[in-house]
Amino acid sequence: EDEAELMPRPPVVTVMGHVDHGKTKLLDAVRSSDVVAGEAGGITQHIGAYQVHVEHEDQDRAITFIDTPGHEAFTAMRARGAKVTDVAILVVAADDGVMPQTIEALNHAQAANVPIVVAVNKVDKEGANPSKVMQQLTEYNLVAEQYGGETMFVEISALKRMGIKELLEAVLLTADAELELRANPEKNARGIAIEANLDKGRGAVATVLIQSGTLRQGDAIVAGTAYGRVRALFDEYGKSLDEAGPARPVQVLGLSSVPRAGDTFLVTSDDRTARQIAEKRDAIERNAAQARSRKRISLEDFT
Ligand code: GTP
Ligand code: NA
Ligand code: MG
Repeated sequence: EDEAELMPRPPVVTVMGHVDHGKTKLLDAVRSSDVVAGEAGGITQHIGAYQVHVEHEDQDRAITFIDTPGHEAFTAMRARGAKVTDVAILVVAADDGVMPQTIEALNHAQAANVPIVVAVNKVDKEGANPSKVMQQLTEYNLVAEQYGGETMFVEISALKRMGIKELLEAVLLTADAELELRANPEKNARGIAIEANLDKGRGAVATVLIQSGTLRQGDAIVAGTAYGRVRALFDEYGKSLDEAGPARPVQVLGLSSVPRAGDTFLVTSDDRTARQIAEKRDAIERNAAQARSRKRISLEDFT
């Protein structure tokens, strides 16, 4: 890759944590904190991912949030070898402390080498004990800056929408300190399908995260074993776009079928190439499935 063509891109963030610790509430709070969302009347569609803008060190910075249940999305995508997340926000309820799925979540992030920012949530509650959370997590190599470590802990109340700006700042500081997030916006787009469904009127609707390049209306694309031409592109406000660049999540219409979460997509030179790649992938998957079932049968015969 030509260094000169690499431009800074926003970090892509996944929210993880134990059940009921406030992941959904946090995603709601983040979304409503967005200046642009405010201007647009705050009407956001659920497209599985969205971008917010924050003012950070006198600059307008974007952050992309993956909005699907963090844990599931993360594991499903990792299972297909897709790396989507740059930074993980680990939500820990300050009244409950570290719980089994807190540990599971941080294990996933650490295994994938994804830096973690800890959101110590529900600090508005009686019985909230943020320092206990900090102390508990040192056991898992998440050592707070206050304790001489490198992990940022931010106290928040997702319910009262407190500490959200500080949390977003911590995400940017962590990304800037630990990652070199750059992508070439000039190339044909490549990325990952985040979620997809079949819509009665519109056909296959896929939310994709563009990881490099720029995706444009009319592009020939292949996503997993689905292929087609981009008929329309929409942002999280349902606004139609002509094009979208790196780290931007967009809804895409025009695919022949519904891709799966974690499928990679790419723009090809023409429709025919997109279709050929899709058919090749489909054949490979069929062969692998057949091989698996043959193996099962022969094992059963043997035992
Ligand atoms: P699952 O998706 O089921 O794992 O839960 P979650 O992590 O998405 O938690 P959710 O956002 O649904 O919040 C769980 C409960 O905690 C809800 O009743 C929320 O209203 C409450 N809650 C979330 N954040 C806060 C907070 O900051 N303070 C208080 N007091 N309650 C909160
Ligand atoms: Na819940
Ligand atoms: Mg939830």
